[in-house]
Amino acid sequence: MSTSSSLNGKRIVLGVGGGIAAYKSIELLRRLVDSGAFVSPVLTQSSLKFVGETTFSALGSEPARTSLWDSGDPIPHTRLGQQADVIVVSPATADLIARYAAGIADDLLTTTLVATSAPVVMVAAMHTEMWQHPSVEDNIATLRRRGVIVIEPETGRLAGGDIGVGRLATIERVVATIEGLFIKSNKSGSLSGKKVLVTAGGTREAIDPVRYIGNRSSGKQGIAFAEQAANFGAEVTLVSTVPAAAGRGVEVIEVESAQEMFDAVSALAGETDLVVMAAAVADFRSKIISPTKIKKNNGAPQIVLEPTPDILAYLGSVKPKNQVLVGFAAETGDPEAEARRKLKAKNADFVVANNVLEHDAGFAVDTNRVTLVFGDSQVTLALADKRDIASKVLSFVAEWAFKNGVWSE
Ligand code: C5P
Repeated sequence: MSTSSSLNGKRIVLGVGGGIAAYKSIELLRRLVDSGAFVSPVLTQSSLKFVGETTFSALGSEPARTSLWDSGDPIPHTRLGQQADVIVVSPATADLIARYAAGIADDLLTTTLVATSAPVVMVAAMHTEMWQHPSVEDNIATLRRRGVIVIEPETGRLAGGDIGVGRLATIERVVATIEGLFIKSNKSGSLSGKKVLVTAGGTREAIDPVRYIGNRSSGKQGIAFAEQAANFGAEVTLVSTVPAAAGRGVEVIEVESAQEMFDAVSALAGETDLVVMAAAVADFRSKIISPTKIKKNNGAPQIVLEPTPDILAYLGSVKPKNQVLVGFAAETGDPEAEARRKLKAKNADFVVANNVLEHDAGFAVDTNRVTLVFGDSQVTLALADKRDIASKVLSFVAEWAFKNGVWSE
């Protein structure tokens, strides 16, 4: 048993919903118990069609519960809810998400959810069509607004041979997210009490009311940074050109152009402990924005470009001594060399370099392979989901900041 995990001694209620991914919660249970947590399994009636109570009783810290009525304890839901340090629901099915969002409490798991003030982590897994149904999207938004942490499903093979989004997140991600809730000591990489500013997405530079100069950035990596920073306890502001869900610890400011992003970021940066400039900010914009749509029959227009404000360079020039500044270098050539040049030119503390021409890294895909360039050193992280890349970079940066005295306790 590992005693170094932040889960050591924590009381966890592991709720299991009725979906094919229920079998994965057996491994999750094992991992949580191995981390030193006291885990009480609560199985819904429909989960019992997929997995057995005996398995959860054998591996859990106490016998599994399957009903409000089957133990000598007359109020198991209040006891479980009051004692829990965290409640984890895995898999969180569309039905469980809906019942929890509506406040329905008609079995042991939903009564426990409604009777607790502990943090709740819902690990969603379901078929793609269900995940994308507007009712599920609305319910997820409701839960997030209330402070529930929703771990979104990944894309991959689903039950019945289909491929799409809906697959349960990896056990590693689930455990890392739960651990992130309990990392107390700043030295171990937590961002507890820190203010973090993240930018995401590609800016759009208007040419006329209809057209713009843009780029292929999806905003996924930046949004992942914002979510993971919040999971690590930070107070996060996400300045994004793509719509992103505000959630527990994340406030979203939507912008469109480099200038709007500059205005939002420069107003906040002075008070910020960590800035992650993940946005793909346009380097040039049209010098003149036509107030009306440019007409084809007037011939091809001459569009004169001018530079946009370089936000990262500006932040580097006014950087307070207790602030960590992280930039990105999305390159098609030699990313590390370019990153090193940018590190110096923009006075950043870290530049995250990636080659956007690789098929499994960079724009729009869910995975990334990056090199962290800092000082005279560099560290390359293996190909991973963008959320895992965000966790690793944030932990590394936080440790560096404490070790180098940029942040104090
Ligand atoms: O110089 P380049 O655009 O390649 O630098 C990339 C880094 O600089 C990214 O972190 C990006 O967010 C930031 N940047 C910026 N303002 C610009 C252009 C890039 O902050 N106008």
